[in-house]
Amino acid sequence: MANLLKGKKGIIFGALDENSIAWKTALKIKEEGGEFTLTNAPIALRLGTINKLAEACNAQVIPADATSETDLANLFTKSMEVLGGKLDFVLHSIGMSPNIRKGKEYGDMNYEWYLKTLDISALSFHKVLQASEKLDALNEWASVVALSYIAAQRAYPDYTDMAQAKAMLESIARSYGQRYGTKKKVRVNTISQSPTKTTAGTGISGFDVFFDFAEMMSPLGNASAEDCANYIAVMFSDYTRMVTMQNLMHDGGFSSSGITNNLIERLSR
Ligand SMILES: NC(=O)c1ccc[n+]([C@@H]2O[C@H](COP(=O)([O-])OP(=O)(O)OC[C@H]3O[C@@H](n4cnc5c(N)ncnc54)[C@H](O)[C@@H]3O)[C@@H](O)[C@H]2O)c1
Repeated sequence: MANLLKGKKGIIFGALDENSIAWKTALKIKEEGGEFTLTNAPIALRLGTINKLAEACNAQVIPADATSETDLANLFTKSMEVLGGKLDFVLHSIGMSPNIRKGKEYGDMNYEWYLKTLDISALSFHKVLQASEKLDALNEWASVVALSYIAAQRAYPDYTDMAQAKAMLESIARSYGQRYGTKKKVRVNTISQSPTKTTAGTGISGFDVFFDFAEMMSPLGNASAEDCANYIAVMFSDYTRMVTMQNLMHDGGFSSSGITNNLIERLSR
């Protein structure tokens, strides 16, 4: 397929390196004819390799810490200038927990860091939506997507405070989706993605085990970052105009499986 997103303009948050889901999504959207600006936190721009992606996509990079209202206002204003008009899509592909980074257990949370986790990984989604609404930056039928994980619904021992961040993220998609849909016909959804080998994913201890477990529990296997990019492209297209306020499972069937033959064979003595 090509040109699914021809004429559409947007912003992609969260491409750090070539493993990032946002990186693969940028390449896919470019291939489908979409135009966009790329953004990430200033520190990530220094540490990552986003300029390589910017060159490949002919996209401008605009730094923004997604927790800063000032940075977000600047990002939306500049993106409209650079792209020559209002926007049709926004990808929020952002997650970070200082508690996970520092290896803190769930019974020993640092609450300052806990608040940071919520601010960066969830509240930032509200800030993005509010900034875009205040600047009237989105066209009617625009599509906004954030990436979630099934730890919003089920307990995972090492996902700690990120589980609450994802639950809040999904809740913001419903609440803001209702408001934005009514006011401006803008769609807001989260995609709940399989475990994926990226910097954020592999930073969680025990990642390899739950990656393998999810693979065995999913009739189709784990969805890759490329699969996720394809799904996001469809969610940004006009083929999903009536989909909003949803948490969309993109997990090869994991979330609907009780157990699979694969696991039964593996666990049988
Ligand atoms: N990898 C997985 O297993 C998995 C599974 C389900 C959902 N997700 C979600 O997908 C999204 C993308 O993660 P990824 O796996 O591609 O990893 P990644 O590490 O490549 O991306 C995370 C991004 O968040 C950015 N970020 C952190 N703090 C920021 C801030 N203050 N302002 C702006 N950006 C900031 C980072 O710089 C990075 O680019 C996250 O929301 C993550 O929780 C990942």
